[in-house]
Amino acid sequence: MRVLLVGSGGREHALAWKLSRSEVVDDLLFWPGGVSMSHCGEKLPLASDSSWSELVKESISRKVDYIVVGPEQPLAEGLADLCKEAGLPVFGPESAAAELESSKVFAKEVMAAANIPTAAWVKVEDRESCRREALKMLNEKGGVVLKASGLAGGKGVFVCFRSEDVENGLKRLYETSMKGAAASVVVEEVLQGRECSFFTFLGKGKPGTLGFAVDFKRLGDGDQGPNTGGMGCYSPVPWLPQGAADLVNTRIVFPLIAELKRRNIEYIGCLYVGIMWSEEGPKVVEFNVRLGDPEAQVLALQDRRDWGKLIADRLGLTQSNGEDFSEVQQLDQGRSVAIVMASAGYPYGEGETVAPKLSPEIFKNDDPRLCIFGASVKEHSAESWQAGTGRVLSVVCHREDLEGARMAAYEQVESIAQKWDGVRYRKDIGLKATQEDLEN
Ligand code: AMP
Ligand code: GLY
Repeated sequence: MRVLLVGSGGREHALAWKLSRSEVVDDLLFWPGGVSMSHCGEKLPLASDSSWSELVKESISRKVDYIVVGPEQPLAEGLADLCKEAGLPVFGPESAAAELESSKVFAKEVMAAANIPTAAWVKVEDRESCRREALKMLNEKGGVVLKASGLAGGKGVFVCFRSEDVENGLKRLYETSMKGAAASVVVEEVLQGRECSFFTFLGKGKPGTLGFAVDFKRLGDGDQGPNTGGMGCYSPVPWLPQGAADLVNTRIVFPLIAELKRRNIEYIGCLYVGIMWSEEGPKVVEFNVRLGDPEAQVLALQDRRDWGKLIADRLGLTQSNGEDFSEVQQLDQGRSVAIVMASAGYPYGEGETVAPKLSPEIFKNDDPRLCIFGASVKEHSAESWQAGTGRVLSVVCHREDLEGARMAAYEQVESIAQKWDGVRYRKDIGLKATQEDLEN
């Protein structure tokens, strides 16, 4: 099959790598793509400022069998709707379903209707109501979370335990480029528990569960500093109770699909459930309508199955047997860790330093137990690439246990960091879980 992958970040590099190794994918195209993905396939020769309809037209003329959409933005903008109208199979939900991510208010309303466990919340539409509701919740409960309802690249959420935190959140929400995303804001209670994420490929037939990962969202070690898009992660999650995936499916995924169906919305694509695992079980922190970044990178190594086939199955293009997920199997298949390396100014773009050169060789990824996925890499010359800004790359390692995966990943990270002034990365990814992994 000929497959087109849409997107250009680290998640897409991991998807491209996975699809390029698939038995059913003969030809992988990507668009707009990143230079580090050039090892996995070919860039679709279409101007990168083309419209979604031009992309669909070009895909049809090139006889693409299916499209995989990596990021949320094209989905929110209706790329999947256009593909469906044109009869082009697409893995990524239509815009009505993509609102689960692009409108936190919509997600909360759907959860309320489907009785899905989540934090108590109110919607506000201006700064003064936001301050009032936030301070009220802070006084009553000792904490409050402010969330821009619209897309904010993982940077529109403020967990507050003091009134200064609320003021800082209000400033970011209402005085920065986030203003549009913050036209509506969700003010919600702070959930207690441990955080993890769950990923599943939905569509025709049974859900294709990928399993759990833990992402480290704060910039600094010990969960200090601002929220980011994610600084690293590990998978699977040794501290979850047995049967965790079944619980998430019965309490969250199945009621969600049923409620969407009731609203005439079909969900085909990856569903990402952000979870707080409390004493009462899983509660939803957020839904995303795509794979996580860097969770895609860690799952690409951890899950040995053929994603090209899993996706083709969900689209009804193929039918596989014996590809079912089992948690026991997931835990039996070793452990993986991903560590993100970002530029000095991440996440707010302040105080960037000179970007280092990177060898194209490091992105070849011939060893399926140690991969480097590029997110923001520029072509300097054929022999030399250069780091861009933001999250630049992630180093992912798979080993028998977390300790081994962590050590091997950090060895690689430290060697890349040597010639990179101001590089940011966390040194404690998976550290606590390593101990729990050894104890279990
Ligand atoms: P979100 O973009 O909704 O995932 O929020 C970003 C991060 O903020 C989450 O990964 C959590 O660490 C934290 N967070 C969001 N909502 C809550 C909540 N209700 N209680 C506690 N932490 C939260
Ligand atoms: N790593 C978090 C996300 O992709 O939203």
